[in-house]
Amino acid sequence: MARLLVLALLLVLATPGSEALPVLVPVTKDPKTSLYTIPFHDGAALVLDTAGPLVWTTCQPDHHPAVLACTSPTCKLANGFPFPGCRSSSSGSSCPPNSHNKCTVYPYNPVTGSCAPGDLSHTRFVANTTDGRNPVSQVSVKAIAACVSLGDNKKLLEKLPLGSAGVAGLAGTGLALPAQVAGSQRLPKKFLLCLSRGGVYGPGVAVFGSGGPLFLLRDQPEYTQSLTYTPLVVTKKGSPAYYVSVKSILLENTPVRLPKKALATGGAVLCTRTPYTLLRRDVYRPFLAAFEKALAKQIPWAKKARSPVKQLKLCYEANTLPNGLSGYLVPSVALAMEGGGSWTMTGSSSMVDVKPGTACLAFVEMEGVKEGDASAPAVLVGGFQMENFVLQFDLEKKRLGFFRLPVSTQCSRFNFTRAG
Ligand SMILES: *[C@@H]1O[C@H](CO)[C@@H](O)[C@H](O)[C@H]1NC(C)=O
Ligand SMILES: *[C@@H]1O[C@H](CO)[C@@H](O)[C@H](O)[C@H]1NC(C)=O
Repeated sequence: MARLLVLALLLVLATPGSEALPVLVPVTKDPKTSLYTIPFHDGAALVLDTAGPLVWTTCQPDHHPAVLACTSPTCKLANGFPFPGCRSSSSGSSCPPNSHNKCTVYPYNPVTGSCAPGDLSHTRFVANTTDGRNPVSQVSVKAIAACVSLGDNKKLLEKLPLGSAGVAGLAGTGLALPAQVAGSQRLPKKFLLCLSRGGVYGPGVAVFGSGGPLFLLRDQPEYTQSLTYTPLVVTKKGSPAYYVSVKSILLENTPVRLPKKALATGGAVLCTRTPYTLLRRDVYRPFLAAFEKALAKQIPWAKKARSPVKQLKLCYEANTLPNGLSGYLVPSVALAMEGGGSWTMTGSSSMVDVKPGTACLAFVEMEGVKEGDASAPAVLVGGFQMENFVLQFDLEKKRLGFFRLPVSTQCSRFNFTRAG
C-alpha cells in the first residue's frame, strides 16, 4: 500500500514535465567516408561531428529564413569557437559591412577545414520522440542553424558523404544540437550515442535529451544501467571537443610502456571525424611495437601481410588469426580511464578487414603534429572504436558513460517501428 502511494506521488510529481520525451534520430554510417549522418529536413542529411559547435546547412533555394541580429547574444555565442584560420580576413566579423544587421557565422567542414560565411537563422526539423524502446510520436524541433549559400562555396561540402547538406555539431556548447534540443524540448542536457558499423547492418541511434533508458532488443537488459563513468571536459582552451582522461593503455591487462606523462599531455578526445583512433607519435610507436609483440606471443603462427592502406601499418593474413564472436582473438586493447573504468576493445573494435583476407590494426599515427607538441591530444578516439558502445554524454554532470555491447546485440538493433 505504502509503495503504491509512493508510486502515485511520483507519478503526480513527474506529470508536469512528463509530456516531454527525448528525441530520437537514426544514425547512418556512410561506407565511403566512414562518417555518420542523421536526417534533417527535405531528405538532406547532416554529418555528425562530436567536436562541432554549430548546426549548419546549405541554404534552401527560395527559402528566406528568419535571420538573427548580429548584435544578439546568440550571435556572439555562435562565433565563440572560431575554427583556426576561418576568420582571419578583416571581414571575419559577425557584423561585416553590408550585413544589414544579419548575424554572420563561419561554419567549417570538419574533414577539410574549409569554411565559409553563413547567416544564423531559425529553423526546425522533424523527428520522433522515444521511450527508449521505440519511436513514440513525431515532433517538430526548433533549432538555430547557420545557412550557407553554396554558390561561391562549393568546397564546403567536399569529402562529406553524398547527399549531406551540412553538419550537426554535437559538442557541449550552447548552439550545438544537444543543447538546442534540450532547450527547445525542455529536456535534460544529455544524449546517447550508439554508432553502428553500417554496411549490412542497419543504422545506429542517437537520443537527445536523455541519459537512458536504451533498449536494443526485446528481452535484453537496459544498457544505460551498466555504464562506467569517467569525467568529461566539455570545452578546453577554445576547443569545443569532448576531452576525457586516459591513464594508461593496456594490452591484455599489461600497461604499454610510454614516455612519462605522454598521456597526460594533450589528453584524449572523442572524435567522429576520423574513422580510426589516432595516437600521437610518442604514444603510437611504442603501442604499435607492443601490440605486435603481444600478438606474436599469443598467436605465434600469425602471418603478417602487406598493408593495402598506407596509414594502417600492421596487418595480418586474416586466416592465420583465430576468430570469435567478438572479432579476431587478438590481444585486447584497453584504455584505463580516469575514475577507474576501462574502455576495453576486443578484436571487433581493434582490427579492421581492409580487404578480403587482410586484417589490420585499426590505430593510426597522428599526422601534422610536431614532435613534442603538447597541445595535440595524445589519443583521438575515432568512430570505429565507438561503434557498438553505448555512450552517454552527460553535459550536466560533466561525465561520459560508456558500455561495450555484449556480442549478442549491436547498435543497429534499435527498433525503429512505432508501437501500436
Ligand atoms: C517516426 O517513426 C515512424 C515509425 O517508425 C516513421 O515512419 C517515421 O519516418 C519517423 N519520422 C521521422 C521524422 O524520423
Ligand atoms: C518492434 O516494435 C514493435 C512495436 O512494439 C513490435 O511490434 C515488433 O515486434 C518489434 N520488433 C522486434 C524485432 O522486436
